[in-house]
Amino acid sequence: MSELTQEYWKEFNKKQALLREKVTQDPWRLTYHQMPETGWLNDPNGVVQFQGTYHLYHQYAPVNPEGGLVHWGHKTSDDLVHFEEHDIFLSPDQMYNKDGAYSGSAIVKDDDIHFFYTGNVKNPGEHDYTFSGREQNTVHMVSKDGFSVDEREVVIHHGEYPEGFTDHIRDPKVFEKEGTYYMILGARALDHRGKILLYTSKDLYDWTYQGIFAEAADETMGYMWECPDFFETSEKDVLIFSPQGIQATKPFVYQNVYQSGYYLGQVDYEEGQFIPENEFQELDYGFDFYAPQTFEDENGRRILWAWMGIGDTAPEYSNPTVHRGWQHALTMPRELTVENNELKQRPLPEYQALRQNETQETLTIDKQAKFPVAHQDAFELLLDVSEMTAPFSITLKEDTKLSYDGEVFRMQHGLSGYGRSTRGIAIEDITLIHIFADTSSLEIFLNDGSYVMTSRVYPKENREDILFEGQGTLSFTRWDLIKE
Ligand code: FRU
Repeated sequence: MSELTQEYWKEFNKKQALLREKVTQDPWRLTYHQMPETGWLNDPNGVVQFQGTYHLYHQYAPVNPEGGLVHWGHKTSDDLVHFEEHDIFLSPDQMYNKDGAYSGSAIVKDDDIHFFYTGNVKNPGEHDYTFSGREQNTVHMVSKDGFSVDEREVVIHHGEYPEGFTDHIRDPKVFEKEGTYYMILGARALDHRGKILLYTSKDLYDWTYQGIFAEAADETMGYMWECPDFFETSEKDVLIFSPQGIQATKPFVYQNVYQSGYYLGQVDYEEGQFIPENEFQELDYGFDFYAPQTFEDENGRRILWAWMGIGDTAPEYSNPTVHRGWQHALTMPRELTVENNELKQRPLPEYQALRQNETQETLTIDKQAKFPVAHQDAFELLLDVSEMTAPFSITLKEDTKLSYDGEVFRMQHGLSGYGRSTRGIAIEDITLIHIFADTSSLEIFLNDGSYVMTSRVYPKENREDILFEGQGTLSFTRWDLIKE
């Protein structure tokens, strides 16, 4: 039965047309990041390369910049830099997903893309929607082209999940290993520990529960693990997830309301368990990063996209674009590798195509130096700071100060942070700082992808100078990033 009436779509189109007008006037619209055409965006979904084309789907509430009923938006690209916007791919138009087509993933088999997602249902009545009242069904869809859906059915009904869980079981991620398909699902267990469930299938249609793939060792590791993601590398297996309910126990860890991070380890396929071999590591130390998803492209690269935003932050900080008809975006795609037991995240080389007006300088700094730039909306700045003596700092984008004191790298926002203040990373030595700025975002890669910090910033006008303070010699290369 279809829940979305003609009336719904009529109202929808009307509201979206109004938002479209607002959005086009906003100078904070990003230039080389993926955003909602209008309204709200959250998690990346179903990312896949299929017959050469990259398909990027995402959680999308197009008519309300503050969220609401989620659909899947859809964009495609041939080069991961230039994207085309398409019609909504998936809508909450069936009883089994009537309160949201929640997050999910994609896998290619033969000539089809198979999608798995969570159909969210809220039953009427007196409920808290955690312990009662919510259903989260796992839905399977088959598509021949990534645009239309040929088959769609629930493969795991909410009532079929094992005992011991709250109503929160969602975000299927499917991968294949030696002819068997594995599905992992994020869950909130009744014992207040986040867990990841494992199902297997031989054909992507019939799924059998195998047990717990991974779980929080105790309550300190969170009550809910959202958006699990998994991949193998030649060195280690990698399990990514977004835990909720972790408290910060020391400075400069777990600084946001929720986290996103990973374990390196090994899967024991006999037992169906992921065995972590390190402490949980955060993927990003900035204000705006959540619910990452990875996929392998046709060149064998492992690429990650994340929501460049996070939920439940108010009143700590805000996103002023809400009043301009939209909210949130995705990070740049990043390539992931494991090298000597370390997960590295690097910007994709494809983005070098945007570079224009290169300037290279080596500055010997005694106290301070200014570097004037005509245009600071979107740029890339690669700094070699190995000859700088801590403390030193770089102020850019009006009032964001990046500093290193020998122990902690900090990003401090001024007014343009709209309530975002400081984030830090405890780090022994910094040699390279690689900055990607867009009209209203900053992504900072440290030491060739060992650490990343991502935040939205909303400068009134992009200031004309970059200010360096400290002592030593600094070389840098700067490019405007211009998408044509
Ligand atoms: C993560 C998340 C997912 C869920 C989706 C709903 O941000 O809460 O767990 O599927 O967002 O929009």
